Amino acid sequence: MRIGCVKEIKNNEYRVGLTPDNVKAYIAAGHHVYIEKGAGVGSGFPDNEYVEAGASLIDNAADIWHLVDMMVKVKEPLEEEYPLFHDGLILYTYLHLAADREQLDALLAGKVKAVAYETIQETDRSLPCLAPMSQIAGRLSIQEGAKYLEKRFGGEGILLAGVPGTPKANVVILGGGTVGMNACKIAVGMGANVTILDVNLKRLEELDNMFGAHIQTLYSNDSNVERVLKDADLVIGSVLIPGGSTPKLFKRKYLPEMKDGAVFVDVAIDQGGCGESSHVTTHDDPVYIEEGVVHYCVGNMPGAVPRTSTIALTNATLRYGLEIAASGLEDACRKSAVIRSGVNTYAGRLTNRNVALAHGMDASDVMDLIGD
Ligand SMILES: NC(=O)c1ccc[n+]([C@@H]2O[C@H](COP(=O)([O-])OP(=O)(O)OC[C@H]3O[C@@H](n4cnc5c(N)ncnc54)[C@H](O)[C@@H]3O)[C@@H](O)[C@H]2O)c1
Repeated sequence: MRIGCVKEIKNNEYRVGLTPDNVKAYIAAGHHVYIEKGAGVGSGFPDNEYVEAGASLIDNAADIWHLVDMMVKVKEPLEEEYPLFHDGLILYTYLHLAADREQLDALLAGKVKAVAYETIQETDRSLPCLAPMSQIAGRLSIQEGAKYLEKRFGGEGILLAGVPGTPKANVVILGGGTVGMNACKIAVGMGANVTILDVNLKRLEELDNMFGAHIQTLYSNDSNVERVLKDADLVIGSVLIPGGSTPKLFKRKYLPEMKDGAVFVDVAIDQGGCGESSHVTTHDDPVYIEEGVVHYCVGNMPGAVPRTSTIALTNATLRYGLEIAASGLEDACRKSAVIRSGVNTYAGRLTNRNVALAHGMDASDVMDLIGD
């Protein structure tokens, strides 16, 4: 198969769909790989590493779109890329089509076989291509929170771990899933006092077994949230109800009761946020202060660390990409329910039920379109 990878053109996106190591894996499997010049530079992979791995370097992204059977990207294609779609092209990337009707229509009109990272679901119901970004955002949330606790950013002016003879910071984590657990790991590692709240008692038990006496677990309800926020120095918002709207646990009325210069990192902002006072910010201007509380609400936190993010993402995406390339998308779908779960559009038809629901459309079963 001819596999392509172009430079991401979305603002502030420095990740890349294939690393030089990925190129080696595709070439070892008998495929040809075409990389746009400079595609990996933002993630610290210079062109010569791709050439050494066996890729062909191409100057012009449009030439790659026309040439390849499968395009591997990170972000959804932008409008200027829609005219480059062609019948039968496999597009393997994050798509988030439920929120993007225009792109969905372009993929359907272009008869693109679109495989979305975010809908690939393993047999244990995990989402392997989403998890690495949550791991990164969780770990980064403490790193960023620690920074904004510094006085010059409006923070309290405290060190997360303290030093002997001074209090450690109180870190409160709302939601103990992938983001919350990874935040917890770093906060505990830095020596902070950590309290983690969740409504899933089984999850709290797992966290208790994992971190033992290093953390306090609490059932998440309004009273407990209000109580712990009063003493919090750093709050991490990491709540998610899959397919539902994010509950606003962090209420505006709690702000005056909180410490002046406390920091709230609302990681869940990409799903609307779990703070009533949260609104989305960017890496260029990441924080704002409301009632003395520093709010950090960046919607694409992994973008701050593109090298780690690229490696973590491609560690997850490579194996499915190789499966698709091995015998074509149709055969990969026949063999694997996991690959089928990733297919969002096929031959001009929408094949994902949740995306269909979001747009009031009908979804086809991809296997009815492919056949046995
Ligand atoms: N900003 C970013 O760059 C970025 C990056 C990655 C993930 N995220 C977001 O972070 C959020 C968390 O992602 P995740 O992968 O950890 O999800 P997850 O499903 O692994 O965890 C969510 C947790 O929230 C808990 N929860 C649900 N309702 C709750 C409540 N009322 N009180 C307390 N806990 C509650 C769930 O039981 C679960 O343990 C999502 O919104 C995700 O989209 C943001």
